[in-house]
Amino acid sequence: MKEINLSGKTVFITGVAGFIGSNLALELLKTVPKITVVGLDNMNDYYDVNIKEWRLKEIEKLASEKSQCSYFCIKGDLADKETVDKIFAEYEPDIVVNLAAQAGVRYSITNPDSYIQSNLIGFYNVLEACRHSYDGGKKGVEHLVYASSSSVYGTNKKVPYSTEDRVDNPVSLYAATKKSNELMAHSYAKLYNIPSTGLRFFTVYGPAGRPDMAYFGFTNKLLHGEKIQIFNYGNCKRDFTYIDDIVEGVKRVMSKAPDRKNGEDGLPIPPYSIYNIGNNNPENLLDFVSILQEELIAAGVLPADYDFETHKELVPMQPGDVPVTYADTSGLERDFGFKPSTSLRDGLRAFAKWYKEFYGV
Ligand SMILES: NC(=O)c1ccc[n+]([C@@H]2O[C@H](COP(=O)([O-])OP(=O)(O)OC[C@H]3O[C@@H](n4cnc5c(N)ncnc54)[C@H](O)[C@@H]3O)[C@@H](O)[C@H]2O)c1
Repeated sequence: MKEINLSGKTVFITGVAGFIGSNLALELLKTVPKITVVGLDNMNDYYDVNIKEWRLKEIEKLASEKSQCSYFCIKGDLADKETVDKIFAEYEPDIVVNLAAQAGVRYSITNPDSYIQSNLIGFYNVLEACRHSYDGGKKGVEHLVYASSSSVYGTNKKVPYSTEDRVDNPVSLYAATKKSNELMAHSYAKLYNIPSTGLRFFTVYGPAGRPDMAYFGFTNKLLHGEKIQIFNYGNCKRDFTYIDDIVEGVKRVMSKAPDRKNGEDGLPIPPYSIYNIGNNNPENLLDFVSILQEELIAAGVLPADYDFETHKELVPMQPGDVPVTYADTSGLERDFGFKPSTSLRDGLRAFAKWYKEFYGV
């Protein structure tokens, strides 16, 4: 693998106002000397745009304190080729981290269009721009890192999910777009020698997270006295991965790219890798909910005498969902010496504190 020293580099982050993108931008600006972060986001209203704006303000605040670093934020659509090409021409990124996407499994059932636009056309635009970054003998993009998802494992019965498993049976359009991204990246790695690494994230949570995700939705509902629905009667196991662990993993991955080398035929062997980033420690949904309840009380979001039992409804599985997802993280450990380790207790405590402050509960 090729080591990349991030200091002084220009990093292009798509989806910079998103949950993972914003935290990655903060981490890079905080820890990497002389870094330039260029962010793109279309600020769509799939969920509360106030949270996206809040995240951008946090980045701007930090960037203004870091005189040796630069931060540029562009509002635009990844599916617009001209926008993407312009960014590449102007900033000439060394590393690209593609996190912009239409996320969510359930939403892809009712709103397929945005998945095709953002996840397929958008990603294609990134690949094309990476390809042309080498035009005229330029150094171009040293590493393309992009978000895939644990949802590519579909209804895989074997756990933990390994990157060696076959993932040819997606059960949602969202998963199909993520798997397609991996295939597209592979072909571009082969054809144009673009070092690329796909990361399959497993249920990411934390402060300023996504309101469409269960822990956030549960909190909103409990606060408003509504019932929460626990799917598959609570018999769901998930690898809940804390945002700081994801960001640390992405940062480490950014700094080591798959090697460019030729095979016996003299043609490039695709510099291409895929890793899981998850906790490697599945938690039962009901345990997750219990810890969330305790931490919401401890943070003062809910009163100490809140009657949780009357606000819980155990319901069957949703189409496209899978009962157990759990990551084999041996590849990440082997190549980057890293494994997520934040406990649910610590992670949900941080979320509850942020929620209390953000909403002024
Ligand atoms: N959070 C998770 O649990 C999780 C799990 C698996 C995979 N992922 C993947 O990780 C990536 C980041 O996820 P996240 O949780 O930060 O999601 P997010 O929705 O918070 O962030 C995505 C950001 O991309 C932006 N965006 C979407 N389409 C765009 C477009 N066409 N042009 C420009 N910007 C666009 C959105 O406005 C948003 O700010 C996504 O690719 C997602 O599919 C996330």
